[in-house]
Amino acid sequence: MPERPEPTVAAAARVYDYMLGGDHHYAVDRTAAAHTMRSFPMAAVGARYNREFLGRVVRFLIGEGVRQFLDLGSGIPTVGNVHEIAQAEVPDARVVYVDYEPDAVALGRELLRENAFATTLEGDLRKPDVVLAAPQVTGLLDFSQPVAVLMISVLHFVTDETEALDLVHRYLARLAPGSYFALSHLTHAGGRTGALQQETNRVYNSTVAENLAIRDRDQIAAFFTGLELVEPGLVPLPDWRPADPDYVPDEEDAPRNVGLGGVGRVR
Ligand SMILES: C[S@@+](CC[C@H](N)C(=O)[O-])C[C@H]1O[C@@H](n2cnc3c(N)ncnc32)[C@H](O)[C@@H]1O
Repeated sequence: MPERPEPTVAAAARVYDYMLGGDHHYAVDRTAAAHTMRSFPMAAVGARYNREFLGRVVRFLIGEGVRQFLDLGSGIPTVGNVHEIAQAEVPDARVVYVDYEPDAVALGRELLRENAFATTLEGDLRKPDVVLAAPQVTGLLDFSQPVAVLMISVLHFVTDETEALDLVHRYLARLAPGSYFALSHLTHAGGRTGALQQETNRVYNSTVAENLAIRDRDQIAAFFTGLELVEPGLVPLPDWRPADPDYVPDEEDAPRNVGLGGVGRVR
């Protein structure tokens, strides 16, 4: 981990890394993750489903001819980063990672030191004007050509509904036709009753720096307003274009319903 004093507050980036089996977390993150997983045991499998969804989305977008990616809330670099997947197919595919968590940024910079086509910006996605004007973004991405904006498991940290909708709108307003927007978002499904849901939120929100806003399907669908939703639409994460041709959705698999994901195309 980068040299800095041990944090005293858990961060979403490091709690998620812990749940994925990564090794970039501190005691405070592990404690928060343990509390969350106690009230919401399917969190770790849900995190893995999310990461796998991200990988399939990037492969799909590369197949659609997208060569530029703006990954907002990109997290701590771990297996299956966007640039690894994209550049394995197209070596000069361009990727800008944006995160505000210092370890995620430092580790990203270390990893990308010798990569001319990928970079990491330390930035707050709630400030689209600042993000879009940053030299890392303007230097690498050409917005007159299609760009994929990724908000994978991050928009639920923008708890104000109006702010979240406005943010998406402001990023999308910059995109050329043929661009894409990919989103995954925590939802209320997954066998969580109202009380359990509230308890999970309380645990997470009281132990992690970020607060969570878990949204229902209609609220999540609203982020795709004005876009052409790519097949199969907004669905549980494992159901989105599964790699296995024999995949059959398992209704008994509770973590399957933890999040919804989809991809929209800018007309
Ligand atoms: C659950 S992780 C998801 C990481 C990655 N997108 C993925 O799906 O594998 C959420 C990430 O969003 C970042 N994040 C949350 N709010 C943010 C904000 N306002 N600006 C930038 N990053 C943010 C956190 O630091 C964390 O790294």
